[in-house]
Order: sequence, then structure tokens, then C-alpha cells
Amino acid sequence: MRRRTVLISAALLWGCGVAAMSANLSASGLPRDGELPFPAEYQTWPRFLTNIDKVDTKQVRDIYLNPTGAKAKPGEMFPDETTMVMEIYKAKESASGELDKSSDGKLAKDKLAKVFVMSKKQGWGQDAPDHLKNGAWVFSAFGPDGKPLAEDFTKCRACHAPLAQKDFVHRYDEYFEARMKR
Ligand code: HEC
Repeated sequence: MRRRTVLISAALLWGCGVAAMSANLSASGLPRDGELPFPAEYQTWPRFLTNIDKVDTKQVRDIYLNPTGAKAKPGEMFPDETTMVMEIYKAKESASGELDKSSDGKLAKDKLAKVFVMSKKQGWGQDAPDHLKNGAWVFSAFGPDGKPLAEDFTKCRACHAPLAQKDFVHRYDEYFEARMKR
């Protein structure tokens, strides 16, 4: 009985803290993939890495992370309540489908196509099967208008899951190297 009361009050406390940021919650009260709120202010956040060219998929990507995430030190995991946002732009192409490249070979951005988001908080992401667990990270995707997209989130998990040593973040090393030079 006592244990139950403690659990319930912990859940209530936790709920107050994040109620403002979580519009959509599963029955357990924890956000699942596809249920994160759109972080509308992300363009004011520190930049993680920008102008990542993806020639094969004809895209350019910019990544931001929230001020909480930017407190991480090299070699550490990102703190609780870190959010990372990846903008995926179409790369500019000519009418014949050739990619526009600057003299230094960089691609140019066309329209914003999608916004991918990952956020972590203790206790999140535990309903995923073991081989798809990404620590406490939860994934979501949005259109350029900020409306949620129904992506196949098992794909996000499958491709990020092998990076446990880097807190499931693909560009982990590159980020800290770039940050040291800034
Ligand atoms: C096939 C592998 C793959 C899949 C599937 C995938 N990602 Fe990623 N993701 C990457 C790679 C690689 C990067 C690093 C940036 C780059 O090179 O595009 C990345 C970067 C990110 C980042 C920036 C932080 C980081 O890891 O560097 C976020 C946020 C992100 N992905 C979210 C998602 C979401 C949400 C989905 C599913 C809707 C998804 N990803 C699906 C491979 C993948």
C-alpha cells in the first residue's frame, strides 16, 4: 500500500513537470515514438552540425540540440531531457536532375522536406523490444509545417540502436570535434 502511494505521487510529480511539453501521451503517461511534441523553437537552439550533404538521397541536413543537450561533455552521455532535431532539406537540382554543387562541391538547400526529432528522459522508450531499445530515447517525425508524420519508427530504432557507445547518436564524435573548434 505504501509503495503504491509513493509510486502514484512520483507519477503525479513527473506528470506536472512535463505536462506542458507533452500534448500526446500513451496510456502509461510516457510518450512513445511518434508522440513527442514539435519543438517549435528549435531554430533558436545551439547548432549540432549543419550542411551535412547526402548525395545518395539528394538531401542536405542541419541538426540542432536543445540547451540541456549542449551541456554534455565529450565522452559523456547526453543528459536527461536532451532533444535533437534534424532538418532534412531536398538538395537543389537542375531540370535534368543534376545536383547543384558549389565550387567546393557542397550541395545547395531546396525546400525543407521533414523534421526528425529524438528526445530522451529516464524511463522512456522501454516498451520497445530489446533489440530496438535505444536507451531512453524516443523518436518522432514531422512535416515542414510541424504536423506529425507516421514514419516507420522501428527503422529509426534499428539504425540508431547499434550506437549504444555513443548514446545512439550517429554524429557524436563529429559534434564534439566541431564544438571544440568553435
Ligand atoms: C538507415 C539509417 C537511419 C535511419 C533509418 C534513421 N536514421 Fe537518424 N540518423 C542516421 C545518420 C547516419 C545520422 C547522422 C546524420 C546523417 O549523416 O544524415 C542520423 C541522425 C539523426 C539525428 C541527429 C542526431 C544524430 O544521431 O547524429 C536525429 C534526431 C535522427 N537521426 C532521428 C531519426 C528519426 C526520427 C528517424 C526515423 C523517422 C531516423 N533518424 C532514422 C541514420 C538513420
